[in-house]
Amino acid sequence: MILIESHGGDDHLAPVRSELELRGHEVVVLDSGRYPVETSIAISYDDDDAPELSLTIDGTTHDLTTCRAAWWRRSQPFTLDPRLIDADARSFAYTESSEGLEGLRALLKVSWINDPLRDGRAAHKPYQLREARRAGLVTPRTLMTNDPVKARAFVADHAGERTVYKSFLAVEGAWRETRVLREDEVDRLELVQMAPVIFQEYVEGDVDLRVTVVGDIVQAAAVHSGRTEYATDYRMALDTVVMEPYALPVSVERSVIRLMRRLGLVYGALDFRVRPNGEHVFFEINPSGQWLFIEEKTGLPLTRTFVDALASADRGSPHPRSAPSGCVDCEQNTSRAARAGALVGA
Ligand SMILES: Nc1ncnc2c1ncn2[C@@H]1O[C@H](COP(=O)(O)OP(=O)(O)OP(=O)(O)O)[C@@H](O)[C@H]1O
Ligand SMILES: [Mg+2]
Repeated sequence: MILIESHGGDDHLAPVRSELELRGHEVVVLDSGRYPVETSIAISYDDDDAPELSLTIDGTTHDLTTCRAAWWRRSQPFTLDPRLIDADARSFAYTESSEGLEGLRALLKVSWINDPLRDGRAAHKPYQLREARRAGLVTPRTLMTNDPVKARAFVADHAGERTVYKSFLAVEGAWRETRVLREDEVDRLELVQMAPVIFQEYVEGDVDLRVTVVGDIVQAAAVHSGRTEYATDYRMALDTVVMEPYALPVSVERSVIRLMRRLGLVYGALDFRVRPNGEHVFFEINPSGQWLFIEEKTGLPLTRTFVDALASADRGSPHPRSAPSGCVDCEQNTSRAARAGALVGA
């Protein structure tokens, strides 16, 4: 059985689920937005060492003891019983619900794509930039701060060059694209007091890369952002942007795999920009990033590769590995799953 944590609004869920079911896998989807009101959990200890674990969705109970693979995709905020009105009571119900579900997750004997704790840590931009550097990738000069004095100093240090600013998280309903800092905005830098902002040197280049990794399989796409009307962030021109499969230099590919191992991820979607001198600059890794928009435009078999990984985890086999393109040295702190060739990412 394969457990998927996601919800109906996730467009990646349906294609993955239907392909898994076509291949004969049993799939259970946990939408945590329907928990604890419409979905219930049970963790039962009797005389055995191991507890019995189950999930009841729409009246059907699923025995999670037999579950071997799980996809941590899009967890949702819980929905509490509307009869709970008192703020303290709601807060108590929420934290108790969270403890119960997290405890259940921790007991699952599954191969995760990705392990929720590693996924959460890897998603932090301040953390992933350091890990990317340690993995051998080039990253832009960056300042993350809510201190206006430091922000002004960073911008002044890069006088004559462009500076971009961007957010830590893409939040539905409050999405912000990456923007080049304008002259008039320099006078308003005290606003960072409200919340920290990421400032970064502007990386020149007409080609962005989206690199999708599953296990050791790395598939890259070139996104010709320089040819769009909003070259700073191609997501503003997704309908018209030209994309094509891209051969990543072997040294960059090795660093990408090293980064995945450092972060303990099986799946990950990475953003790069290629400088005119050919240097590949890492921007970020999304531990549960989207891939369908790349698959649609390039024909890269990303859904199939992803489904292969979940399917092999369900069979108890390691995640897929590509044909070796040279030795990819393992890091000291490589996870158990990674050592088994089962590493995973965002
Ligand atoms: N320092 C930079 N210089 C030039 N362009 C940049 C820079 N940083 C980001 N961009 C552009 O903006 C895009 C989005 O930036 P990035 O991926 O770092 O953050 P994000 O807004 O959090 O993205 P996501 O929503 O994918 O998490 C990049 O793919 C790139 O096209
Ligand atoms: Mg991005």
